[in-house]
Amino acid sequence: MNQPSADYLVGAVKKEELQDMININLKTLPEHYTDDFYLELIQKFPEGCLVAKANGVIVGYILNRVELNFGSFGLNLTKKGHVVSVAVLEDYRRKGIGRRLIELSMGAMRKRGCKEVFLEVRISNDEAINLYKKLGFTITKTIGGYYTNGEAAYVMERPI
Ligand SMILES: CC(C)(COP(=O)(O)OP(=O)(O)OC[C@H]1O[C@@H](n2cnc3c(N)ncnc32)[C@H](O)[C@@H]1OP(=O)(O)O)[C@@H](O)C(=O)NCCC(=O)NCCS
Repeated sequence: MNQPSADYLVGAVKKEELQDMININLKTLPEHYTDDFYLELIQKFPEGCLVAKANGVIVGYILNRVELNFGSFGLNLTKKGHVVSVAVLEDYRRKGIGRRLIELSMGAMRKRGCKEVFLEVRISNDEAINLYKKLGFTITKTIGGYYTNGEAAYVMERPI
């Protein structure tokens, strides 16, 4: 496991940790997925699906996948990393965990040959947008009505 600070450990999520990870998703985000979807992500890109632990308890996670698509920073078909979901429990925020989860994911994406990383974020989600900007992501698109409540999404991307 890699260390974001002395107190937090980050590593690949194990199957038996899946339910604890899903519970964080239920507490922190309005977007939820089926168990099969989570399992598929973990099976396809295990080194890109990470949890952060404090004293052995999961307090944050990130789920990513690798996709083949047209590049935003060039015209060719490009392998891209897609940040599907990232969240940290409220009591553990502003400690660098979100940042560390994304940085480690980008390392795993790079090893898989990804040249870019992208994600969607609610246009009202200032804390997440700030985090992504701090990590060098820029807004490249706005998708109207992307979320089930009708809110638009920004697509944010960066080369890796
Ligand atoms: C977005 C989220 C994952 C950030 O996690 P985190 O562990 O608190 O983030 P970090 O501590 O690594 O923050 C890194 C930087 O992001 C920015 N940032 C994070 N939270 C912020 C906030 N509430 N207000 C302003 N900037 C913020 C800051 O620049 C921060 O650096 P700093 O603390 O040195 O100022 C967390 O707020 C969260 O789980 N939110 C709910 C779920 C969610 O919205 N996920 C994203 C879906 S797209």
